[in-house]
Amino acid sequence: MIARLLIKNIGMLVGAYDSAPGILKGEAMNHVPVLADAWLAVVGERVDCFGPMKDSPSEDGFTHVIDACHGWLFPCFCDSHTHLVYAGSREGEFRDKIAGLSYEEIAKRGGGILNSSDLLNDTSEDDLFNTAARRLRQCAASGTGCIEIKSGYGLTFEGEMKMLRVIRRLKEFFPMMEVKSTFLGAHAVGRAYAGRQKEYVDMLLSELLPAIAAEGLADYVDVFCDEGFFTVDETARILSEAAKYGLKGKIHANELAVSGGVQVGVEHEALSVDHLERIGEAEISVLKDSSTIPTMLPGASFFLGIPYGKGRLVIDSGLPLALASDYNPGSSPSGSMRFVASLGCIKMKLTPEESFNAVTVNGAAALGTKNLGAIFPGAYASVFMTEPLPSLAYLQYAYTEPLITRVILKGQSLEC
Ligand code: NIG
Ligand code: FE
Repeated sequence: MIARLLIKNIGMLVGAYDSAPGILKGEAMNHVPVLADAWLAVVGERVDCFGPMKDSPSEDGFTHVIDACHGWLFPCFCDSHTHLVYAGSREGEFRDKIAGLSYEEIAKRGGGILNSSDLLNDTSEDDLFNTAARRLRQCAASGTGCIEIKSGYGLTFEGEMKMLRVIRRLKEFFPMMEVKSTFLGAHAVGRAYAGRQKEYVDMLLSELLPAIAAEGLADYVDVFCDEGFFTVDETARILSEAAKYGLKGKIHANELAVSGGVQVGVEHEALSVDHLERIGEAEISVLKDSSTIPTMLPGASFFLGIPYGKGRLVIDSGLPLALASDYNPGSSPSGSMRFVASLGCIKMKLTPEESFNAVTVNGAAALGTKNLGAIFPGAYASVFMTEPLPSLAYLQYAYTEPLITRVILKGQSLEC
């Protein structure tokens, strides 16, 4: 029998629409629809309908009833950029950073991404799966219902395939989480190809990409298009090849320098260009003529001590903005989307409404998924409940308070 769930006495139902809101741009980002004193009905995996408690349906037709006791109900966060499949941890580099070394200096000394690559290639697929599953569960418990995960710590044929297979297992094991997979072979040049960057890219395109496509292991492709990593020409080549297999780009751009990554991403109709710690009018102007979603990762700015992206400028220019965690061992060892939303307010001067939309509705768009990030009839019932709150801004303001009391993913309560 199909489960029918009624959630009653919701203090505030947040982000609830009559139909899918689509992507929110510019001023539209400053509005979050709310309904006070509400109920929500869920049939199977999906939202059926909602309304005010004065019109509450009879409980008879429901198989489960949850009393929210005036707690607030939100759509789950959509985290459109993570690297949460990795081996080991890099707190040694954390010490180096505290001592004053930059991300680039650590990478040049063989640390950074190559350090994680060595660890990953020495780790079995099962062990990788188990540690990643633990992280994914923690993300879910902190309110994330939809997530993108990249490869990019293999940097060998076998290593990249192993990572992508782990992501596939995560998709199968957590069907209630929407997981998207991105091939990021061009994250750094694998050690075996040191000094032979062109041959490394050749290998990615002639060997790895066809094998990945044959097994359907990736939804998207990514390139770290930045100073000291991959060039604009290499990025263009990878995006063109990937397009032949139907893979759209989600590009790392302008983290370490003004790299040209935004322009090449837009030219190849990338779904998103991410990081953007360094952007100016040139980047804003090409984004305005595109459907590519600017995505910022304030957790990496926080952890690395680099500038924050100009999220305020992006929104004031009438563009959409998504915020994501960049969860990874080197530049953002956290998958907390509440923290990301708080950083959006504190460091980018986004309003609480704008930062909320950036981690929900627009995060879903940057993940290429339509039925998440908002509450509407037909959407997946992926929601989290909090204690009663004084206002929406409290979610970002009280940034370490454990406010979440329950997470429901595609209609199922998560056992925490
Ligand atoms: O998004 N910038 C490139 N990649 C990751 C960092 C990866 C790492 O240091 O392991 C990022 O910040
Ligand atoms: Fe990243």
